[in-house]
Amino acid sequence: MAPTHAPEQLRFPHFVSAAQVTRPLMELIIRRANDMRRMLQTVDGCTHHWPMTITGEDSVAYHCNLEGRRIAMDQRESSSRTFRSFIFATVNLRGELIPHLQDNSLSKGESLPSHYMTFAGNHPAVVVTRSSGNLDPHRAAWLFESYPGTVPGKQRYGAVISGGDGTNEHPTQAVLDMYTTWQTLGRIDNFTLLITGDLGYSRTINSLLHLICNVCQGVRIKIAMPVVEDIEYGPPEEVLYRLTQAGVAHETVPVSSSHDFELLLTNHDIDIVYSTRPQRERYQAALVSDPDQMVRDIVSCIRITPELLDKSGVRLFHPLPHTDEVADGCDFHPLSMYFKQASNGVPVRMALLQLVLLDLELLQSLGNPVPPFPLGWAAL
Ligand code: NCD
Repeated sequence: MAPTHAPEQLRFPHFVSAAQVTRPLMELIIRRANDMRRMLQTVDGCTHHWPMTITGEDSVAYHCNLEGRRIAMDQRESSSRTFRSFIFATVNLRGELIPHLQDNSLSKGESLPSHYMTFAGNHPAVVVTRSSGNLDPHRAAWLFESYPGTVPGKQRYGAVISGGDGTNEHPTQAVLDMYTTWQTLGRIDNFTLLITGDLGYSRTINSLLHLICNVCQGVRIKIAMPVVEDIEYGPPEEVLYRLTQAGVAHETVPVSSSHDFELLLTNHDIDIVYSTRPQRERYQAALVSDPDQMVRDIVSCIRITPELLDKSGVRLFHPLPHTDEVADGCDFHPLSMYFKQASNGVPVRMALLQLVLLDLELLQSLGNPVPPFPLGWAAL
């Protein structure tokens, strides 16, 4: 059956913030990621022909083959999961992968706008970008929109997808975290989430909280805040303000020892603990005087061990890579969900590429104007 309709609530073409995702869009992504996962099982990965269309659970068929579309990687920070899963997602969907050029002219002093404008001129269908600068993907989106020849609302030269920007956001990670929550709990409403690790610098926590504010109902957030010798390693005020504004119940619990942490985990009705790695590489730039001490302080308060998982029965999420904040022995613990999260990265990013690219084209072909990208907040 040929696809004839465009999905409701399309908020793309560029995907640079988890705050862009609405409830209907999140539900659509969950359905499509499920379709992708099922189809991957049916065709046994790459050994069989990938179809042109998929028929979803609602019996509606949609285009799912990226043949001829060039998906470019712009990976200017280390990555093991995000970029590999974008690469697998591209290849699974039969898109054409344009790998990252390691040896580029940024090392000669080229500016980032010049880098992105050149990229726009190559006319990729999508560019997935990761960098250490906060809001770089927003700038890229704005530059792609302003590229000479782009007709606002009609024609585009490429969509930008953020693969993580500095300490700001990692929107596709948040979407796969939410998908894994749905898979694990059977719902994305009414659960208690304990977040911990690097509350001040983790972009994955920031994006996940954006998403929760936008799409979930009845979620209770507990924040396990490491406190060592009166130093509080808590979240930025702005994050708490955002939760309050969105009406998300939240509570910051100071944790000064592994004993405090054990009490918190075992005495409360927590469904998921979301731990994160102390982002040591960011501390230098943030003028932290002793980055190693900061890592030791955080880890000493909130380290998760297999014994703690046994005692608490709480499911452990982590965006990975984990360091000492999660003991290696947790890797094969039945309550550790992080390899499941990592593996969900492929079908979720397939669903996102499909939505960003093909639904947008469909929308255009049906004569609908492309939703304008809100230049106001991107033109920074
Ligand atoms: C994280 C990242 O790069 O933001 N990992 C990921 O993409 N899955 C987390 C981290 O580096 O600590």
